[in-house]
Parts: sequence; C-alpha cells; structure tokens
Amino acid sequence: MWIFRDVGNTKRLPIFYKRFTLDKKIKKCVINVSALGIFNVKLNGKEIEDYFMPGWTNYHKYVHLCTYDLTKFLQKDNLIEITLADGWYSGRLGYTRQPNVYGEVNALFAELNLSYKDGTKQKIVTDESWRVGESQIVSSSILDGETVDFSASCSRNIESLPCAKQFDCSLPFEKYNYEPVRKIEELTPTVLYQTDEVIRLDFKQNFAGFVTFMAKGEKGAEITLRHAEVLNEDGTLYYDNLRSVQATDKIILSGGRDKFDPKFTFHGFRYAEITVKGNVKITDIKGAVLSQKLQYFGKFECSDSIVNQIYKNVRWGQIGNFLSLPTDCPQRDERLGWTGDAQVFCNSAMFNADCKRFFENYLKLIRTDILPDGKIPSLVPFFVPLCVTTAGVPGWADAICVIPYVHYLHYRDVNVIKDNLPYAVKHLEYYLSRCEGYLMKLENPFGDWLSVEKAEDKEVISQCFLGLSASLISKMFLILGDAENARKYSDIYEETKKAFRLHYLKENGEIQGDSQTAYAFSLSVGYVEAEEIKAPFVASLARTGWKLTTGFIGVKYLLPALCEIGETELAYRIIKETEYPSWGYTIKQGATTIWERWNGYTQENGFETPSMNSFNHYSLGSCAEWLYSHVLGIKLSEDKPICISPSFSKELSFARGEYMSKDGKIRVEWKSDGETYRLKVKADKQVALDYDFIGREVMSFKKKGNGFSAVLK
Ligand code: BGC
Repeated sequence: MWIFRDVGNTKRLPIFYKRFTLDKKIKKCVINVSALGIFNVKLNGKEIEDYFMPGWTNYHKYVHLCTYDLTKFLQKDNLIEITLADGWYSGRLGYTRQPNVYGEVNALFAELNLSYKDGTKQKIVTDESWRVGESQIVSSSILDGETVDFSASCSRNIESLPCAKQFDCSLPFEKYNYEPVRKIEELTPTVLYQTDEVIRLDFKQNFAGFVTFMAKGEKGAEITLRHAEVLNEDGTLYYDNLRSVQATDKIILSGGRDKFDPKFTFHGFRYAEITVKGNVKITDIKGAVLSQKLQYFGKFECSDSIVNQIYKNVRWGQIGNFLSLPTDCPQRDERLGWTGDAQVFCNSAMFNADCKRFFENYLKLIRTDILPDGKIPSLVPFFVPLCVTTAGVPGWADAICVIPYVHYLHYRDVNVIKDNLPYAVKHLEYYLSRCEGYLMKLENPFGDWLSVEKAEDKEVISQCFLGLSASLISKMFLILGDAENARKYSDIYEETKKAFRLHYLKENGEIQGDSQTAYAFSLSVGYVEAEEIKAPFVASLARTGWKLTTGFIGVKYLLPALCEIGETELAYRIIKETEYPSWGYTIKQGATTIWERWNGYTQENGFETPSMNSFNHYSLGSCAEWLYSHVLGIKLSEDKPICISPSFSKELSFARGEYMSKDGKIRVEWKSDGETYRLKVKADKQVALDYDFIGREVMSFKKKGNGFSAVLK
C-alpha cells in the first residue's frame, strides 16, 4: 500500500521508519520502492547512493518502481528509514515555475522481500504500521536548494512517533531499468576571495551537483551557500540568468561537527559563495558532480588545444545535463526534457557514452506523451499547458524518428525500433496532415533556434524535417524487413523532395533563406546534390568572413556538409575558430561547457539577456559527432560494417580517439606531416570494419589483426 504523512503536525521533510528483526538465517533481501516525490533509503544507517529516484516520469500516467538488493546491509535487528522530498512531483517545475504540477501529497511505496536460507519468504510492505518522523532537512527543492537544520532533534524513539496513513494511489508501476544519478566525481575548489564572513570559490568547471563540506561552530550558527555559473566583472557571482531559481542552500549548525551533503537538490554552477554568521570553521569543501552513471567510453584528442577544449566542454555538457533524462540546462528554472535538444545531441552523446538504456527511457517518456493527433511534445515529461501549445514543432517532434534510428546505429537493438516506429508514423501522419501537396505548411515557431543571423529559412527547415522523418521511417521499416512500408515512406520522402525542389531551390542552386543551415540541412537530407548548391553554400560562408551563423538545429549539419561538398579545410577552420561567433570564442571567454548562445557573453556587449542565457546547454555541442565521424572517420550505417573514412586536414598534425561500438572498441589515430597522412586503426576482433579513403592516393596499406595501417597522400 502507498503511505503518506498526514500534514499539519510537522514541517520538515518526513522520514518513514520500520523496524524488523530476523529470527532465521537470511539469504537475500530486496526492496522495491517508489514515491510520489523523490526518496532516500537507508537500512541500518547505510544509504542507497542514488539521487532523485524514482526519476521523472509523467506521474499522471506511471511511476517507476526501483529495486535494490539490501542483503549486505542486514543485521539481526533492522531499521529502515526512507526520507521523502517533493522532487518533480510536487516541487516547483521549470518554465511555469509552479509547484504541485502532478499532485500535492508526497507518498511512499515500499516492499521488502526477504528470502531465508530455509526456503521461506517474508514480505514487509509500507502500511499504517510504519512510523513517520521529521528529518533535519527543513526544505528541499530541485530548483531552489536545500535547507538543513543540524540543531533540530530527530526522535530516536521511533515507536513514539505517529503512524503513516494509507494513501490512495492506483498509478501503474513501470520498472526503473536504466542507470541512476550518482555522485560521479569530486572537484576541489580554489578560493577566489575570503573574509571572516564570506568565502568565494571557483570549482574551475561548470557542472551540476552541489557543494559538500564539514562545519563546526556554535549551535544555531547559519551558513548560506549560493551558486552561479559565471562572475560579474567585479568578481561577484552573476545570478541574473538563473531567473527565479534561488540556487541557495542553508545550513544551521548543531554545535558539533556537521557534514553538509544535500540529498534532494542540485545546482548548475562553477562558482559558489559561502556566507557565515557567527564563529564557524569550514573544512573539506568539495564539489560533488551529479550525473547519470553512464560509462563514458568515447575519447578524442588532437593537436589543437581549442578543439580539445570543445570536446571536453561537450562532454561536461552531457554530464551536467543527463540527470534522470536529457535536459536543456541544469541551472535556471527550466531543466526540462526538450525533445529538440535531445534529437540534435543524441548522436554525439552516444559516441561519448553508453546511453542505450538512458535514451530508451527517454523514448518511453516521449511515447507516453504523444498527443492524440500525433503531435510529439517539445518537452517531456508532459505537463500542462506548455506541452500542448508547443507540441509538434519541426526539429523537436522529429526526436521520435531521429533518436530510435541513431540508437540503432550505435546499439543495434531492433526492439527500440519496434517500440517507437508506430509513434514515428503517427508523428509523420500529423506532419502530412499539415501539408499541401507534400509541402509543409505547419508553423515553425522555433526555426534554427538561436542562430546568429535571422534568416528566412523556417519553411525550408520544416520541409527538411518532413523529409528527414519520412526517410528515417523508411530506413527503420527496412531494418525490420518490411520492404513494403519502407517503399511507401521512401515514396513519401521523394514527394517531399520534389516539393522542396520546386518551391525552395532556385536554378543557380540558391535555397530560400540562403542560410548555412538551409544548405547544410537540405544536403544532409538528400534534397540537393553537393555540386548544385556548393557555390551559394560557400558564398553564404564567405559573406560572414567564414564564420558560422547557424543555430542549434543547423550546427549539427554544418561541418559534415562542408566535408561533403569538398570544403574540408573550411570545416576545420570553423571548428578551430576563436573569433566570434564560434565555439572557440566561448572558450576564450572561459567556457568550460557548451553555451546556449554563441553570444552568451561577448567582450563588446557583455552578458546576453538574462531571461535566456545558459552557460551549460549541450545543443550547440552536436559538433562532437563530427569529431568522431569525420575527424576520426568512424562512420556508422544501418546496413554496412563500420567504415573508417577520416576527412584528413592540414589544420591538425594529429588526431586520435576511441569509440565503443556494440561489438567492441575501435581506436583510430592519424598523423600528418603536411604531405602525407599516417593512419592506424585498431579494433576488437568482433568488430566488422571497412574503410574508404575518399579518393586519396594510398602509398601503403597493411592489415594488422582486425585493424590496419595506411599511408595516404
Ligand atoms: C530551452 C531550449 C529549448 C527551447 C525551445 C528553451 O528555453 O532552453 O533548449 O529547446 O526553449 O524553444
């Protein structure tokens, strides 16, 4: 049964207690636990180290049930303690900033399954025999921070506490079956400024998590911690871009030694400021990095320090934004599962890390929230009214086609295609219902989101997404062996192509809008040939002094498209660029993660509008996929072996990296002396490999194990 604390008598976060004694020899103890809210489980003082469980789902539809083996924590007399916080269920949520989106009352479900050595079993479930007390956590909000009162007493006499009450809840459970959020790293800060009252810290890295420390001072003394991503010019913390978020933790001391280590909040920050009232000594200050506990197998390194830092920034952007689901940013009052951001970045993410189950979960969130007319929300989990008004937008809705297809390229699991394809088809049907003669008429409010130049390319982008969705659906049917449907959707794709060419392509190869995104995207979708658009595409770059102008939709296609039209050197120049606008420019301004905007901060104009200016947004980091697929040349396809085909450039003297494919690791390294390229490829023996040197002269070639080395001109 579900239980809750009857509110009114207590204020601090509730702890639910149950004592039990083992009279026989135990074999195994497993707990199934869920919450309307988020939980922290302890057995005999030993804690399960996952954060924000059971994760964020659309709690109107289902909630996760998490399973843990607690056997190693057992003793004869046992005490289980589960603390509950609002989490996403009833805490303030991003964008609308309102609490209680899914409900007002936090509730707990737990079921301990004990198996004894004599073969008997016992179940201990949450019921009205569980006691409820108050924790020392006064309040905790994912967005705003946590307040802990170490001077508050927690009853040791559990039997004297009130009983939990039954809570009516018929929400279905779904098994939680992907990696949890954990502390994955600890950062040591440097002190920027210190007085008796204030310590200002720099963790040297923008990340999601919190600050931990030990404190000693008189009972009741207060410590306040504030967090920010960047500094003002005078060295103080810049809070304006956090919007309504407090980003503040508060600690009230017990008089003894207290350890601050929050449980139910996270902040997106690089800098923190600790303010103390009274005589307090703070030691052991660390930055606890929280993220989904994924395996980061991917590696990339080259001779250019800017490109290396871009790669690092992308990785940190992924680490800081993969918390329960892929979010847009971890700092302001948003932190939402925007589908556009996720589809743009998923390929880079999957090159970097094993995100198989993480994206399977996210796809399920998307499927759950598809609207009856086939519109895919622009963000999931769904909550009103935002999701209704922004659903079905090209570039966001296409996540239901792009993510399963890219997922297949990396993980080769047909079940993911089987699960998602029917929804992808519904989504395309919605698009087609908004077409006239296969020309997309759907309004596209976002366009090439946050592009540098405003361009008349929204319709072109919509049409490209229509074709992209149709062609990916066709490819996915083919993967399932359904040739008939594959043909049906490739025919639809061909019609969308005809409409595109008729309406948006001029005879001289110019595309409506004349933007870099228009050229790069339409080429990638196969609407145009490299030769026919090359001249106006290159001219569009010449116009901007060879600088990129794309927003986060187009940036994914830009560098691969330049390689495809034979302008590889230009692609390398753009990735190495350090003048505005470029990734390198953000690095010159101190970026340690990918920014939401190219002009988040410029020397000329300072900070961009605080109403939308995140310094940790992975979307513009979709260039990482190009580092793997073009610089290293690791090309994935649905029906052929992995093909090693680097786009070499004189702009680098070496590049090397690794990718973990489903069948094993691939390591690529090349060196250049300006004339020749020495390529070495090593792969685990199960990996099926091919190569293509794109017309380069092969001076030597040697097979070695499952890899090869070659010298190319
Ligand atoms: C988010 C984005 C998102 C966009 C939709 C922003 O506020 O941070 O990353 O995709 O809204 O337009």
